[in-house]
Amino acid sequence: MKKVHIKSFGCQMNVYDGQRMADILGEQGYEETATPEGADLILLNTCHIRDRAVQKVYTELGKLRDIKTAQKAEGQETKIVVAGCVAQAEGGEIQRRQPAVDLVVGPQAYHRLPELLAEAAGKRVVDTDLPIEDKFGFLPAPKPQVIRARGVSAFVTVQEGCDKFCAFCVVPYTRGAEFSRPVAQVVAEVERLAEAGVRDVTLIGQNVNAYHGEGPDGAVWGLARLMHRVAEVPGIARIRYTTSHPRDMDDDLIAAHRDLPQVMPFLHLPVQAGSDRILAAMNRKHTGDEYRRLIERIRTARPDIALSSDFIVGFPGETDADFEDTIRLVDEIGFASSYSFKYSSRPGTPAADLDGQIPRAVMDERLYRLQERIEHHRQAFNAAMVGRAVDVLLERAGRHPGQLAGKSPYLQAVQIDSETNQIGDIVRVVIERTSTNSLFGHKFEAGAGSRKEMAA
Ligand code: 5AD
Ligand code: SF4
Repeated sequence: MKKVHIKSFGCQMNVYDGQRMADILGEQGYEETATPEGADLILLNTCHIRDRAVQKVYTELGKLRDIKTAQKAEGQETKIVVAGCVAQAEGGEIQRRQPAVDLVVGPQAYHRLPELLAEAAGKRVVDTDLPIEDKFGFLPAPKPQVIRARGVSAFVTVQEGCDKFCAFCVVPYTRGAEFSRPVAQVVAEVERLAEAGVRDVTLIGQNVNAYHGEGPDGAVWGLARLMHRVAEVPGIARIRYTTSHPRDMDDDLIAAHRDLPQVMPFLHLPVQAGSDRILAAMNRKHTGDEYRRLIERIRTARPDIALSSDFIVGFPGETDADFEDTIRLVDEIGFASSYSFKYSSRPGTPAADLDGQIPRAVMDERLYRLQERIEHHRQAFNAAMVGRAVDVLLERAGRHPGQLAGKSPYLQAVQIDSETNQIGDIVRVVIERTSTNSLFGHKFEAGAGSRKEMAA
């Protein structure tokens, strides 16, 4: 068998795309290998969201060129493929900067990998077409043993692209316009995953709650209706979705958090900043107070919901007072966790041309302060778990013999002592203590959605 090494950077959709590319290449006689050394094909699945992510790709490509040269000296041909969002944004420029790259393939063209690889024998090829066809219709389904090897939690892309055009963001340019997969296609994929043992699905999309797929009845279905359907798939005990835009949190979706026990009480809902002036400059289409009111409505529907967000510090024109508005919002909402970034100017986005770019030292200082507050709330959230019983989906062997590791409904890593339970079970766990990144506890009964409960 030929060997392929796939390395994905960036978001969960890249993880998903990486798996789908592995499925396609699997049909072409490739098996995955964990290291680039010895691989016949090396595929970098890249991220363009911030400048640092892009720099990483070129550093990595330099190393891969050396591997390719060394393998050639030993008589092994190695092909290097750049996929993902850098491929989309930079196209042929990648091969000008790194001539060792054989093929550049964008996120909407990777279903054509087999033909493109054949074409790339002896010459360089670039395919960054945006959809004229639905790539999903061309992707082979993974085999049950491949699904099992990937674990009991899986991502399923239901939506791709973005029409929101936040002023800082490259996504509308790299992933293209919003597209929703038809309901039947999503359900078939979830069924296949569930049959192979998947218990927890995360429906993903750059703007997932803008989902508007064609239903089996010919009507347009929103995300809430899709989740009601996915909840009917036997074996699926947990449903999550990410990433959402505040503007698209409609009543049905909020109600799904109240009505569907499979929908986990954890929501990633990026706000980006707390100042209305900055939110307007970012073209976020919501104010700080609109976000606060939205959170209130979600908490009314599902009082135990935990929230997470993304933040950008140092957006052009951000004053100290604007930044304090972000800190205030963080302290008011009390997020269970959050990601935070220094603004990175992206060529081609509207914010790149704005006056008032913020000096690096100011950004560093703001990020440090913000992360201190985020971490404070995360630790408080975790500490509040001690003494409580939470349902844990067991995902893998733990750090020590006799331990199993899993996830709480709130995406916290939990380690339990258990000799008897199995991966894929959901057990109720009493949390005894926390460390920086994990909760620890012991199991005391079967949890909601456990196989035992479902069989009953
Ligand atoms: N600079 C910094 N952070 C960014 N993000 C998106 N674009 C940029 C940028 N140009 C962040 C946003 C988004 C997350 C995925 O990445 O917070 O929600
Ligand atoms: Fe980017 Fe904004 Fe779309 Fe999210 S909603 S992908 S931040 S443009």
